[in-house]
Amino acid sequence: MGSFLSRNEFPVEGRTILITGGSRGLGLNAARQLAEKGANVIIVARNETKLQEGVAFISQGARTPGSQRFHHIAADVTTSAECARVVAEAIAWNNGSPPDIVWCCSGSAYPTLYIDTPPEQFQAMMDSNYFSCAYMAHAVLNAWLRSNPDGASPETPAEPNAGPRPARHIIFTGSFVSFYSFAGFTPYSPSKAAIRALSDSLSQEMNLYAAAHPNIPRVRVHTVFPATMPTQGLDEENRVKTDLTKALEEGDQILEPDEVARRAIRGLESGEDLVPTSTIIRLVMTSVLGGSARGGFWKGLVNTLLGWIVLVVMVFIRWEMDTKVTKWGKQHGSSGMIQQKSK
Ligand SMILES: NC(=O)c1ccc[n+]([C@@H]2O[C@H](COP(=O)([O-])OP(=O)(O)OC[C@H]3O[C@@H](n4cnc5c(N)ncnc54)[C@H](OP(=O)(O)O)[C@@H]3O)[C@@H](O)[C@H]2O)c1
Repeated sequence: MGSFLSRNEFPVEGRTILITGGSRGLGLNAARQLAEKGANVIIVARNETKLQEGVAFISQGARTPGSQRFHHIAADVTTSAECARVVAEAIAWNNGSPPDIVWCCSGSAYPTLYIDTPPEQFQAMMDSNYFSCAYMAHAVLNAWLRSNPDGASPETPAEPNAGPRPARHIIFTGSFVSFYSFAGFTPYSPSKAAIRALSDSLSQEMNLYAAAHPNIPRVRVHTVFPATMPTQGLDEENRVKTDLTKALEEGDQILEPDEVARRAIRGLESGEDLVPTSTIIRLVMTSVLGGSARGGFWKGLVNTLLGWIVLVVMVFIRWEMDTKVTKWGKQHGSSGMIQQKSK
């Protein structure tokens, strides 16, 4: 829940939430915490066994076990056809209604030096991180905003005296490198930066539908920016990461995925469009907000003032990191690894 002064902008009790990447890591922890708050949850991933284990873990946290429902769908969400199938299956399971909230959490990283990256990884990173979000958003927004294929209005008459219906939410998952990238993250960071651009423009586009169709629930668009978490995903990226990139990351704050999920949900409850999950991500974010939503007048003012200070600090951070990379090249050569002297 939001603070006692603010209302909860992300009520989930009795609502249905679909989470891609919900079989492990951040997605699984978010799914469990949302079940503890009373949501019905559908998780999506590729591995069927992990999905079954995930549903068992999530359902153990149900707030009202008799009435909450849990489901899984096995799918690779990197294609538009599969995202459309997932949304159709979710609607069928949810008694004909689309899920109220969709959290696109699946993703992966292949952090290698640019010229050493197999070219197919550039496409794989965009598919895994960006297109999984773009296609899922496209499928679910069509279900929310267009009730039939001929483009007729999705409007349903409002109940007499009924208040506004709670907003629907689509949540993307970015990264620290959506805001500030560095040597070794070239294959990955563009895919996470693209998510932020999608989130910014889509959140503005949603005003069109809210104005034209006041009787359908408003759609809120968010991006969560997770801190570094010790997950299977991190283990996999560390297998290909160079010593140079590991050295540049030193001092990074590491948080367990359940803590990151808690912070993300708290940010969503307080109504943030862009949801940083650590202080360092929040600070860096303020310096690159540009035309992004700043979270209302007071939050926006604080973010803007903070951003001015951090902007100056970032000049020195860039200079320090450039110096580190130059020193590394002189000392260890261009492989990015300590053992090999040079290419
Ligand atoms: N871990 C970190 O330090 C960190 C930091 C910043 C941002 N993030 C971001 O946070 C999110 C979660 O990260 P994590 O570390 O929790 O990940 P993780 O432990 O690797 O879990 C990834 C989840 O996504 C699913 N998945 C992957 N590719 C998929 C695909 N093509 N189709 C459907 N499902 C797919 C995986 O299941 P299957 O493999 O069975 O499909 C799994 O459920 C990702 O978007 C990641 O980029 C992570």
